[in-house]
Amino acid sequence: MIDITKDTAVDLLIRGGQIVTAAGQGCPVKGRAMQKLDVIEKGWIACADGTIVAVGNRDTIKNQIQVTNETHIIDAVGKVVTPGLVDSHTHLVFGGSREDEFYMRAQGVDYMEIMGAGGGILSTVRATRDASLEELVESGKQRLWWMLQLGVTTVECKSGYGLDLETELKQLEAVRILQQQQPVELVSTFMGAHAWPEEYKNDEEGYVDFLISTVMPEVRSRELAEYVDVFCETGVFSVEQSCRILTRAKELGFKLRIHAEEMSTLGGTELAAELGATSADHLLMISQEGISRLRSSDVMPILLPATAFTLRKPYAPARLMIESGLPIALATDFNPGSCPTANLPLVMSMACLYMGLSPEEVFHAVTINASYSLDRSHEIGSIEVGKQADLVVFDTDHYRKIPYYYGVNLVDTVIKQGRVVI
Ligand code: NIG
Ligand code: FE
Repeated sequence: MIDITKDTAVDLLIRGGQIVTAAGQGCPVKGRAMQKLDVIEKGWIACADGTIVAVGNRDTIKNQIQVTNETHIIDAVGKVVTPGLVDSHTHLVFGGSREDEFYMRAQGVDYMEIMGAGGGILSTVRATRDASLEELVESGKQRLWWMLQLGVTTVECKSGYGLDLETELKQLEAVRILQQQQPVELVSTFMGAHAWPEEYKNDEEGYVDFLISTVMPEVRSRELAEYVDVFCETGVFSVEQSCRILTRAKELGFKLRIHAEEMSTLGGTELAAELGATSADHLLMISQEGISRLRSSDVMPILLPATAFTLRKPYAPARLMIESGLPIALATDFNPGSCPTANLPLVMSMACLYMGLSPEEVFHAVTINASYSLDRSHEIGSIEVGKQADLVVFDTDHYRKIPYYYGVNLVDTVIKQGRVVI
């Protein structure tokens, strides 16, 4: 972090916009507080060396900073400025596509039925095993470009379409290369426990052992992932199996995430609380006990309404969760099966329409709370002095119009670490 003094030479100045700072109180924004979004009208933001050095109104800022001939000035009068959006749950890197299943489901065929018949995740596993590292990097880059254009500056990416050592490493290696080749910041998650591979379909314990004793230690020693995630679901990984995998992951030094209560109520949420996971995701079928258990934990619930939309399932009980005092984050779950959209602003609109959230709640859910869900709250997720200058300028005069004009891309400028990237 740079040392901010009165003489700090500002290299980027954004002036005159409606600034959604999304600043919290040093903790995730929970319950009723999600309704109170911090906004500065006609605000100024000054940045130096990729860091935000001053935020406020014109007069306060002018005394704090030094504008030079070198300062890049962005005029945001009549526009909205928000923190860079954070997509905290995606399966970004994969081979192939599954539009055929999309249309089958549209005709009423069930997602788990397709998976049980060897399609679904397993069909993407075949395509990902067949893809070269270069192909995975190229398709990943294109998808990150879609996201960046929509104002997304940080993306969590899971493996889980290899289900063997070589392909899991290839997916994570693709994430590492992508980080060097484009501006979106990536957070990497190992998800070898995403489905039962063909080779182990009659030996579940053998696969769990393989993950625990071979794959996770290898991923760890190559420093290819920060998190481990498990698909805890009926017919996939049971609570006991998930517990074994995540407990070992924790011992190896990984942080934890979990796909919980997506299609059935199993208790993955309670497991997340017990193990101190950073997030529990999906939660369509979360129980009252699950909600209570989350309240006494620091697990961030991440809700993925575009998956419920695609699978035509009931939405997670977001209102009940917020009214119980919980924070929530929202993400896309972008993947080739249950959610082929990479559009986080569209997810914000879905959360308003189908989960009954207010625009104030959804902005917290894709900025500051999403940053907590990735353990990045010191760097990203709000417009505050000392944080990274990750900013989006929207070409509209009020933040409430962003989820309202759903499906329309209102992004004007995207700034990542002080650099204009769109
Ligand atoms: O989060 N639920 C498991 N995994 C993904 C779906 C992956 C796929 O269908 O390829 C999800 O919904
Ligand atoms: Fe997912």
